[in-house]
Amino acid sequence: MKKSWGMAIVLGFVVLGCSGEDGKQGATGPAGPKGAKGDTGDTGPAGPVGKTGPAGPEGPEGPEGPAGPAGEPGGEAGAGGQGNTTVPTGTLNASCMMPCHTFSGIVEQWKTSRHYATYVANLGGDEAESWTGPKACGNCHAVDGVQQRTTGNVAYNNATGSEDPEHGQLNYKDSVSGKVSETTYAGQATVAQVGCATCHDNSLEHDPHVTGADYARGDFPLRVPSDTDDYVLIEKSSAVGTVDGTAIKYTAGNACMWCHKSRKDVTNYILAGDTSNNITSNTWGPHEGPAADVYSGKGGYEWSAQGDYSNSSHQGFSNGCVRCHMPPVADNMNIGDHSFYPQLQVCTTCHAGAKSFDVSGGQTYIKQSLQKLRVLLNTDGLLTRDGTNPLNSTDLNDQNWNQDNALPKSGVSADHAGALYNYFLIARASGYGVHNPNYAKDLLFDSVAKMGGSTSGMVRP
Ligand code: HEC
Ligand code: HEC
Ligand code: HEC
Ligand code: HEC
Ligand code: HEC
Repeated sequence: MKKSWGMAIVLGFVVLGCSGEDGKQGATGPAGPKGAKGDTGDTGPAGPVGKTGPAGPEGPEGPEGPAGPAGEPGGEAGAGGQGNTTVPTGTLNASCMMPCHTFSGIVEQWKTSRHYATYVANLGGDEAESWTGPKACGNCHAVDGVQQRTTGNVAYNNATGSEDPEHGQLNYKDSVSGKVSETTYAGQATVAQVGCATCHDNSLEHDPHVTGADYARGDFPLRVPSDTDDYVLIEKSSAVGTVDGTAIKYTAGNACMWCHKSRKDVTNYILAGDTSNNITSNTWGPHEGPAADVYSGKGGYEWSAQGDYSNSSHQGFSNGCVRCHMPPVADNMNIGDHSFYPQLQVCTTCHAGAKSFDVSGGQTYIKQSLQKLRVLLNTDGLLTRDGTNPLNSTDLNDQNWNQDNALPKSGVSADHAGALYNYFLIARASGYGVHNPNYAKDLLFDSVAKMGGSTSGMVRP
C-alpha cells in the first residue's frame, strides 16, 4: 500500500505543481486516484482530479502538464485523496518536465515498454493476483518485489543463514529437508507491474515531487546495488550441495539481472553423472527471460570435458544490458531510453553498416542450431506444446522455440536433461543468442553432441 500512496503522491503532484493552469490536465488526468477497483488510470474518473486544479495557484508558469503516469490499480479506498493532501503545492517549476514528464520523456518511454503494457493487459485479470501473494512470483512480478528483496524481506521455509537476498539471490537451502528451495514474496502489494518505483528508490528524500528540488543526475538512484564493485547473483551454484549462486557485476545492468534470470540453480537442479533425473512437470527448466544467464556466459549447463566455454565481447560491457537496451537519449539529459528495447543504433557503433540484429548471420545460425536440437529433444520425448504429447509436425516446424515446454519423463540422463535445459535457456533468453553469441554457440554445439546428433556444420568457438 505504501507504493500505492507513493504513486498517488506522484499523480497528485503532477496535477498540482506542474501545471497550475488547467482543466486540461484534469481531462486526461492520471487515473483518478484509484477508483475503487483498481481501474486503470487513463479512464479513471476525472472528477477528483479537476477539483485539485485550482489548488495550484503558484504554478503559473507550468508548461502544460503532461498526463501523469497511469494510476496504479486497486488501491485502498481513499488512497488518492491522501496523496493529494500530502503533497506540498506549488513548489515545482519546469524541472518536473525534464527528464520525466515531457512528451517523449522517461514516463512516455516507459509506457511503450512491455513492463507497462503487460501490467495494463493484466489489470483486473487473474494474473495480477497470481503474480503477487505469498508465492515466488511476486519477487519479480510485484511492483515492490525488488524493494522487498533489497531489504531482505523475503520468506523462507527453514533458512540456513547463508542466504543473500540483498544481492538478488532467490534460491536457498532448506535447512530441514536439505533441498534447494526458492524464497517467496513477503510484501503486500496486489499490483503486478515493473514501474518506476520497482527499479528506483522513491523514498521521500529521493522523490522530486516531494522535495521540490530541481532534478539533478543521480537524484533518483536504483534500488539494487550498482556501483562498480557491486554484484548480483544468478542462481547457479559453485558445487552440488552448496547454494551460493554465481556473482556477476554490471553496474546499472545489475538492475535487470535481478529479474531476467533463471530461477533454477542448474548445478543442483541437474545432477551431473546421474542417470535418473526426472522431468517433473511442464514448467521444468529455466523461467521465461533468463537473459542474464546467457549474457554473463555463466548460467548454462556445462560439460567441462567438452572444453572451455567462451564469451563474445558483448559479455564485457561494463553496464551489461543497459548498453544495448537503454542507450542515452541525447535530448533528455542523456539518460538511458526507458522503452527498454534493444536499439540498432547501438550495434552500428561496432558493427558498421548492420541493417538488422542478425549481424553476420549470427541469429540465423542460432535459429538453425536451436531447430536441430529441438528435433533431437522431441524425438527423445522431451518437448511438448499441449502438455501431454510431443510436438506435432506443425509445432515442430514453426519458429516459436520459446513456446516449447518440457514433457514430463523419468529416468532422464544428466546429459539429456542438460541439453534440454540449454535449449530452453537459449530459446527463452530471447535474441537468438545475440546476448552472448559465442557462449550460445558452445552450449548448443555441446547439447546437440550430447543428444547424439551430428554437429557437422556447427561451430564451437
Ligand atoms: C526471477 C524473477 C521471476 C520470478 C521469481 C518469476 N518470474 Fe515470471 N517472468 C520474469 C521475467 C523477467 C519475465 C519476462 C521474460 C521475457 O519476456 O523475456 C517473466 C515472464 C513471465 C510470464 C510471461 C509473461 C508475458 O508477458 O508473456 C509468465 C506467465 C510468468 N512470468 C509467470 C510467473 C509465475 C506464475 C511465477 C511464479 C510461479 C513467476 N513468473 C516468477 C521473472 C520472474
Ligand atoms: C526496469 C528498471 C527501471 C524502471 C522500471 C525504470 N527505470 Fe529509470 N533507470 C533504470 C536504469 C537501469 C537507469 C540507468 C540508466 C543509465 O545508466 O543511463 C535508470 C535511470 C533513470 C534516471 C536517471 C537516474 C539518475 O538520477 O541518475 C531517471 C531520472 C529515471 N531512470 C527515471 C525513471 C522513471 C520516471 C521511471 C518510471 C516511468 C523509471 N525510471 C523506470 C531502470 C529503470
Ligand atoms: C522487477 C523485475 C524486472 C526488472 C528489474 C526488469 N525486468 Fe524486464 N521484464 C520483467 C517482466 C516480468 C517482464 C514481462 C512483462 C511484464 O510482466 O512486465 C519483462 C519484460 C521485459 C522486456 C520485454 C520482453 C519481451 O519479450 O517483449 C524487455 C525488453 C525487458 N523486460 C528489459 C529489461 C531491462 C533492459 C531491464 C533492466 C533495465 C529490465 N527489463 C528489468 C521483469 C523485470
Ligand atoms: C549486445 C546488445 C545486448 C545486450 C548487452 C543485451 N541485449 Fe537483450 N537483446 C538484444 C537484442 C538484439 C535482442 C533481440 C531483439 C530482436 O531479435 O528483436 C534482445 C532481446 C532481449 C529481450 C527480449 C525482447 C524482445 O523484444 O524480444 C529481453 C527481455 C532482453 N533482451 C533482456 C536483456 C537483459 C536482461 C540483458 C542483460 C542481462 C540484455 N538483454 C543484454 C541485445 C542485447
Ligand atoms: C562494443 C562493440 C559491440 C557492440 C556495441 C555490439 N557488438 Fe556485437 N559483437 C562485437 C564483436 C567484437 C563481435 C565478434 C567477436 C566477439 O564476439 O567477441 C560481436 C559479435 C556479434 C554477433 C555474432 C556474429 C557471428 O558471427 O555469429 C552478433 C549476432 C552480434 N554481435 C550482434 C550485435 C547486436 C545485435 C548488437 C546491438 C544490439 C551488437 N552486436 C552490439 C562487438 C559489439
